[in-house]
Amino acid sequence: MPFDVEPLLECRDVKKHYGALAAVDGISLSIRSGETIGIGGPNGAGKTTFLDVISGLTAVTSGQVTFQGKAITGIRAHKLFHMGMARTFQVTSGFASLTVLQNMLAAVVYGSGRERPGLLLTKAFRERSMACLQEYGLADIANSLVSDIPALARKKLMVASAVVHKPKLLLLDEPVGGLNPAEIDEFIDLIFHLRGRGTCIVFIEHVMRFLTTVSDRALIIHQGRLIYDGDPRGIAKDPTVKAVYLGSQAEILGAA
Ligand SMILES: Nc1ncnc2c1ncn2[C@@H]1O[C@H](COP(=O)(O)OP(=O)(O)O)[C@@H](O)[C@H]1O
Ligand SMILES: [Mg+2]
Repeated sequence: MPFDVEPLLECRDVKKHYGALAAVDGISLSIRSGETIGIGGPNGAGKTTFLDVISGLTAVTSGQVTFQGKAITGIRAHKLFHMGMARTFQVTSGFASLTVLQNMLAAVVYGSGRERPGLLLTKAFRERSMACLQEYGLADIANSLVSDIPALARKKLMVASAVVHKPKLLLLDEPVGGLNPAEIDEFIDLIFHLRGRGTCIVFIEHVMRFLTTVSDRALIIHQGRLIYDGDPRGIAKDPTVKAVYLGSQAEILGAA
C-alpha cells in the first residue's frame, strides 16, 4: 500500500503527568496511513496512557497531537471516533447482557456520527450489523448473549464494533492478551484482513510473535519515553531494549 505524504497522526513532545509521575514523558512521532505499528514495553511503561491521550480519553499535560493535519488535543473520544479514529481496550469491553447482534447494532447506530441517533432500528442498520458480524466470523453467534460467548469471540466483537464505520486509524490495546497460540493465529489473520482494507493499525502487545508477524514498524516505550522506533525484527538485538528487559522480563524478548 503506498504511503500518503502527509502523516495520518503526529505527536509532538506529548506528555501526560499524574501528579509527580510522568506516565508519558515527551513522545514525538509520525504515523502514515498504511502503516501497522506494534508497541511493546514493560508493564507500567506508559503504553496505555499513550493511547489514552491520542484517543482523547485523557487530556495531555503538554505537547500536541494532530490527526489528518488537524490539532486534536482537547477533542473528546466520541468526536474523534466520528473523525475516523477508533480504539479497543486492554480489558475486553462489551454489553454482556445484550446479544452479539445488539452490541453490533449499538456500534452501528451510536457510532454513525449523527447528533441524535434515535431509537429506531431500521432494516438497513440490521443488515449492516449482520454483514459486519459475517465478515468477522461472528454471524453464527449473533443471537448469543455476550456473557455466554468465548473470550476470542468477545475480542473479535470488540474489534468488529470498532471498525464497522471504517476508521482510518485503529488503536488496539493488547488485542491477544490471554489467548492461546491457535487463537492468536486467528487474530493474526484478522489483522491482515484489516491491513488489506487499508486501515492504519497501532497496537500494544506483549506477545512478541504477534507483534513481529503483523507489524511493519515497532515502538518500544520505557518509563514514558520512546527507546526504539524501527524494524520489528531488530528489537531483540537492540542494546537499549535488551538492557531494559534484562532480568525478570528477559523472556519477553526470547518469545519472539
Ligand atoms: N489514571 C491514572 N492515575 C494515576 N496514575 C496512572 C493512571 N493511569 C496510569 N497511571 C500510571 O501511569 C503509569 C503508566 O501506566 P500505563 O500507561 O497503564 O502502563 P502500560 O500500559 O505500559 O502498562 C503507571 O505507573 C500507572 O500506574
Ligand atoms: Mg497497558
